Amino acid sequence: MFDKAMSTAVIVISFLAIPILGSPVVFPRANPVVLSNLAIPSSTLPAPDGLVLKFVALGIGTQNYTCASPSSSAVPASNGALATLYDIGTKLNSDPGSAWKIPITSGLALSLSPYPAILNGFLVSQGYNNVLGEHFFTSAMVPTFSLFDVPSTPIPQVNCKKSASMPAPTSACPGENNEGAVPWLYLTDAGGSTGGVNTVYRLETAGGSAPATCESSASSFTVRYAAQYWIYGPPS
Ligand SMILES: *[C@@H]1O[C@H](CO)[C@@H](O)[C@H](O)[C@H]1NC(C)=O
Repeated sequence: MFDKAMSTAVIVISFLAIPILGSPVVFPRANPVVLSNLAIPSSTLPAPDGLVLKFVALGIGTQNYTCASPSSSAVPASNGALATLYDIGTKLNSDPGSAWKIPITSGLALSLSPYPAILNGFLVSQGYNNVLGEHFFTSAMVPTFSLFDVPSTPIPQVNCKKSASMPAPTSACPGENNEGAVPWLYLTDAGGSTGGVNTVYRLETAGGSAPATCESSASSFTVRYAAQYWIYGPPS
């Protein structure tokens, strides 16, 4: 009787907890998994020769900027970024609709991101609500992708540097205030990457660009963005 009541309580609490907490406690994906059904969006960036696709993350967060003075002759400087990385690759890899979902997902996520409950509903509806980890910049301003929620040792982490870039395609979502989508990037290991990953492509960007000048800007500010990070490593 006690056991039954307990397990009912646990079920009710778990049921209540999922929509509130968003992501489950245990990450359901093993590592490494090769996402062999997904073709990288076409770009002029160098190809991932000899590497295999291990994760596709939807990053939702901010690009950070600083302005030396609030004047039209000053230009905003990039000051890192912070984004939560959601696992979209696992679902897309077995989704017959992946080809049309890939180009629309970043813009849609960006448009929902001011409304966390609605964003979460979208992520849950697509099976994209498992968090892989975070994209952040270290205090030495090294762009870092740390997939600390993936249960593997060592954790998959890319410490990277920008090796190539191209403007986002004209079809890219220009962002909440038409600021423009941040460029697509090819990011390679800057030393110390772990867990079988060493290369990241920032693709399918939405928003995130700074205004052209610092006129009426604060000394530091953020611009909301979303992007997909296609994460590769050597075959294992
Ligand atoms: C970027 O902005 C976010 C949100 O305001 C902040 O939490 C984060 O620390 C900032 N990152 C850097 C490198 O400035």
